[in-house]
Amino acid sequence: METNHPMSRRRFLATTGALAGTALLTSTPAAHAESFANQVKNTGNKLRLAMVGTGHRGTGMWGKELLREYSDRMEFVGLCDINPGRLETGKRLIGADCPTFTDFEKMMKETKPDVLIVTTVDNTHDEFIVKGMEMGADIITEKPMTTDEKKIQRILDAEERTSKTCRVTFNYRYSPHRAKIWELLHNGEIGELTSVDFHWYLDTSHGADYFRRWHRLVEKSGSLWLHKASHHFDLLNWWIDSDPETVYALGQLNFYGKNGSFRAENCRTCPHTAPCPFFFDMTKNQRLMDLYAANESYDGYLRDGCVFKTDINIFDKMAATIQYANGVQVSYSLTAYSPYEGYRIAFNGTDGRIDAWIQESKPVSDANYDEIVLFRNFGKRQYIHIPFGTSGHGGGDKLLKDQIFLPNTPDPMKQCANTRDGALSCLIGIAARNNIASGQVVNIGDLTSIQPEVEKRYKRIL
Ligand SMILES: NC(=O)c1ccc[n+]([C@@H]2O[C@H](COP(=O)([O-])OP(=O)(O)OC[C@H]3O[C@@H](n4cnc5c(N)ncnc54)[C@H](O)[C@@H]3O)[C@@H](O)[C@H]2O)c1
Repeated sequence: METNHPMSRRRFLATTGALAGTALLTSTPAAHAESFANQVKNTGNKLRLAMVGTGHRGTGMWGKELLREYSDRMEFVGLCDINPGRLETGKRLIGADCPTFTDFEKMMKETKPDVLIVTTVDNTHDEFIVKGMEMGADIITEKPMTTDEKKIQRILDAEERTSKTCRVTFNYRYSPHRAKIWELLHNGEIGELTSVDFHWYLDTSHGADYFRRWHRLVEKSGSLWLHKASHHFDLLNWWIDSDPETVYALGQLNFYGKNGSFRAENCRTCPHTAPCPFFFDMTKNQRLMDLYAANESYDGYLRDGCVFKTDINIFDKMAATIQYANGVQVSYSLTAYSPYEGYRIAFNGTDGRIDAWIQESKPVSDANYDEIVLFRNFGKRQYIHIPFGTSGHGGGDKLLKDQIFLPNTPDPMKQCANTRDGALSCLIGIAARNNIASGQVVNIGDLTSIQPEVEKRYKRIL
């Protein structure tokens, strides 16, 4: 009986050294995280950054904010976007003083950056990650790393071929609330973890926005299974400290798209604004007008697309059951039309349970902290209060950037994510998509060269 227990399996593998095999062959995420900061420290020169994709995320978190916070250690040497208007607006919003390019390879050849930041539409990430590495840069890419299994393999192969590295910016790992959960789990507070119940809710404001933009098309975003849920799957992989093995899933489009009773092309030209609760008056947001409306003539992209357009082909309701190599099983769901945005999560263990509920769109009058409840079997419950973070994504954005750009920032919780982490977070969503399409159980190990491991290859530090 003992040997079938997940804890016994882990202990057995750890003590026999069965996991040591690949550990020494692969650079760890932590080693990579140090390399950017130490590059600056060792040479005394500023880190030379180029960026492809000067949209919302590129100009904000990875543009203006980087220059504001780290300009003593980095500089932009080139900016690239397929939309020449947004490129020039992006440069102005970032406040960069560098050349701009609509031709990516020209930018790479002429500017020879140390690091390329990839903040384009999701289905194009692989192209820039692979070419960027081939042209001599290390990569910082936004999530999802990419949108299908073939693209994942191309990225893994390119990394091996070029010896360059690619860091995936999973800012969700850095929020203090989620980091505390990691710490509780890894300190064994609930014994051995056996299962997780994880349910994420997108609301009718921020959540609906996915159905207005390019995200509404599977061919651009890989669907919310990739675009949104890869954040959640990465958290699960990180918390559980093992790799996903098999996935079963369900999904439907129940609310947006074809389900609406009226529709238009976009909100600015819509005849139904009065009855439509989803009317979004983008003209009130100057940043969005400058980035998108002013540049529609170049690519026809409408930032305020109708949430009931019939071309929407992503699901708005999804559920998956995920089996991990260490025996942990996960019950996951994502609902994209909830009255509030947030999640409920519970970790069941052999000695207790952790419960947490986050409501991101809280009224300001509510408590200024997020709660975690730690229940111990036959024991007392403990309420843990985590103060709200002060930067974007629960405080995660700033901590992530500090770890990339400040030297000597330790990584005790292994929050730095590499291509393996990026791949596995995507592979759960890809497996879910494939399972829905084919009805066949999908084994993660059949999708790419990555084979699920019982336990991750880094040492626990706490
Ligand atoms: N980690 C997070 O919390 C978070 C938050 C927001 C966005 N993101 C990610 O950031 C990325 C960008 O999202 P966004 O909201 O800024 O989108 P966006 O539409 O505002 O920007 C994307 C930009 O990419 C450009 N582009 C598209 N195809 C291109 C190509 N082939 N060559 C060059 N440029 C191209 C577009 O013209 C646009 O300017 C996405 O991958 C998204 O998932 C992450």
